[in-house]
Amino acid sequence: MRSAKDFFRPLAVGAPEPPQSIPARPSRAIHFFDPSNEKMAAKVPDMVGTVDVLLGNLEDAVKADRKEAARAGLVDIAKGTAGLGGKSGPTQLWTRVNALDSPWVLDDLTTLVTEIGDRLDVVMVPKVQGAEDIHYVDRLLAQLEARAGLEEPLLVHAILETARGVANVEEICGASPRMQGLSLGPADLASDRRMKTTRVGGGHPGYLVREDPEPQQPDKVRQSYQQDLWHYTIARMVDACAMHGIYPYYGPFGDIADERACEDQFRNAFLLGCVGAWSLHPKQIAIANRVFSPSADDVRHARRVVAAMGDGTGAVMLDGKMEDDASLKQCLVMVELAEQLAEIDPDLKKLYEGIDT
Ligand code: GLV
Ligand code: MG
Repeated sequence: MRSAKDFFRPLAVGAPEPPQSIPARPSRAIHFFDPSNEKMAAKVPDMVGTVDVLLGNLEDAVKADRKEAARAGLVDIAKGTAGLGGKSGPTQLWTRVNALDSPWVLDDLTTLVTEIGDRLDVVMVPKVQGAEDIHYVDRLLAQLEARAGLEEPLLVHAILETARGVANVEEICGASPRMQGLSLGPADLASDRRMKTTRVGGGHPGYLVREDPEPQQPDKVRQSYQQDLWHYTIARMVDACAMHGIYPYYGPFGDIADERACEDQFRNAFLLGCVGAWSLHPKQIAIANRVFSPSADDVRHARRVVAAMGDGTGAVMLDGKMEDDASLKQCLVMVELAEQLAEIDPDLKKLYEGIDT
């Protein structure tokens, strides 16, 4: 057992102190790009400022013979792109490294931390199984940060995409002060659980409940209602993250053409407590930005409740509905999020400032 007193001590001599809290930086869309793909890499500079997070992906979707090119490409992009990553950049720079049992991850971490550790904000670790995976990354990052002379600690984000990872979700979130958040990884999770689906995220028409038959009308069409395959996992992930003061995200939605269903999945995640989702195509950035920003109506209502509740205690009636300390706290979540987003998004700033309560 580690003493609570040691939790915020660096894990290597010369490494920066671990963070005591994780800043709520807007991260509505985490846009994935393959740094070994020249066409994609060329678009990165123009995307800075248009998306909250750009993520250089080194893991799945990058072919084995392109792994080294992807790693080197990410180093070049980070060094050569103004405004990307680091504390001041409008767009954060994240990476997804290869899995901890792969032949590439040691070089991924060593190269990225020593070459561009001051530009990288978050390291996403795939296929995390338990706290031991985070402990390994935690110590290694501390050693590399010390070697690179970094002043700020890197943050770690785990993908929840194995059955064991889901079973251990709380201990993963609490395994290091560096933990920034979790993403649902529906594709790997489906295969690891032996689910009988063949998709990347989203629903399935076969996963449904049907209304009871009418004994007097045996031929009547019985309505069925599709259910959300991911509800259980997202709800567990949200609770584990909230318990540890870190952030939950929906992961990938693979059917790029189905913008409507993508928006629905993202909105379910937003309503349950997630702060963002992955984007696999530029058009998913717009969807995530729309969904993970409170609407003008929500902000208007939240501000009215805050104003009506005065010192925050007791209860008031507003439009026929009871509001009290607990509904006020929900409204404050909405108001605070709107304030954070207005700071980085001029369109939202205008929208929220123009709200008439
Ligand atoms: C993401 O990595 C997934 O497996 O869904
Ligand atoms: Mg995966």
